[in-house]
Amino acid sequence: MAVTWNSAKRTNGIVRYGLDSLRLKQQVESADIKVKGGNDSSYNYKAEIKNLNPGTRYYYQCGSEAGGWSAVYTFKTAPIPGKKGKYTIGVWGDTQNNAGNLAFEQTSKIVDQLAKFPLDLSIHMGDIVENGSVENSWFDFLKIAQPVTSKAPFMPVVGNHDVVNNIDQINFQKPFQIFYNSFQLPNQYLNYSYDYGNVHFVAINSGFAQGAAKVGKVLLHQNSPDYIWLEKDLSAARKNKNVTWIILYTHYPVYSFGVSHIQEWQHNLSPILDRYKVDLCLSGHRHVYERHKAIRTNAEEDLKFGSYYDHSNGTVYITNGSSGGSLQGVGGFNMSSIVFTPKEKTFTYAIMTVDGNSIHYDVYDQNDHKIDFFKIVK
Ligand SMILES: [Fe+2]
Repeated sequence: MAVTWNSAKRTNGIVRYGLDSLRLKQQVESADIKVKGGNDSSYNYKAEIKNLNPGTRYYYQCGSEAGGWSAVYTFKTAPIPGKKGKYTIGVWGDTQNNAGNLAFEQTSKIVDQLAKFPLDLSIHMGDIVENGSVENSWFDFLKIAQPVTSKAPFMPVVGNHDVVNNIDQINFQKPFQIFYNSFQLPNQYLNYSYDYGNVHFVAINSGFAQGAAKVGKVLLHQNSPDYIWLEKDLSAARKNKNVTWIILYTHYPVYSFGVSHIQEWQHNLSPILDRYKVDLCLSGHRHVYERHKAIRTNAEEDLKFGSYYDHSNGTVYITNGSSGGSLQGVGGFNMSSIVFTPKEKTFTYAIMTVDGNSIHYDVYDQNDHKIDFFKIVK
């Protein structure tokens, strides 16, 4: 388990942890050099706790004698690979601090709701902040998100607002240094995968697709290193007997109403999602919630009952981009693959429960009203 935190003091950084909240007997020291960020008031710390037991609840706090200690928090480690259980995953996206959410006030309401659930992890669809180069935005987000991120791993992808969007810069479509300082993610942070019980999660960087399209730099074009990595990863996951579900998430949708999706991906990404039977493809970017029929080879599968995907052959595509950033209005009613989207502008988040051979997906608004649900069974 990786723990990252910020402190106003530059000192040594320690995570104390243990099985008993009153006796945090073990400790690990932050290995990283502390990086000053934001308004000169914060240093990033990062520590990795190793040799933990699977499926076990631990308690921890971070800080130091010189800098002071945090409160005691708790996390549960991942189950052994392949174990079927009931896993609760928070799904949120587009928390960006733009007009109406400048201090993450809308996101804060979403965080309050998410934190009530017994989350095993939360996945974020990107556009975490409005302008990734503004370091204080990240610190503000981290403060607001703490009730969720302190108790379950936070596994984000980056959105177009989180990355360098100037095509002349060498780091075009890559995140700013503060992203690397603030989180700890597998495989160099951008395209990565991990197993949780019987679920294989795949997280994909979609960069700044609108800008990239103009200069032929859309990510995941066929035979690019990222594409080859993805195909290899999906192929291995589908052959793995421990994996029931493959859930892929990325910032830009493959299918969505309007112009928010990446057109090119319908021709080069969809075929490999089809081939390896990806069950769910989650995204954000467009600030709405949208649920589509299962899609295979660019054709819609039949959905006999409105909320029940029964042994479907296709991938279910969801846009989940309304956890704080300015809502972009309604729409999508005239797109044939859309099964549900709210009739009004609505901030949302989702709770995905993977329970053996079924997935329940419940979508809530800021006021805790369930606005949609569906179930996938195989
Ligand atoms: Fe976006």
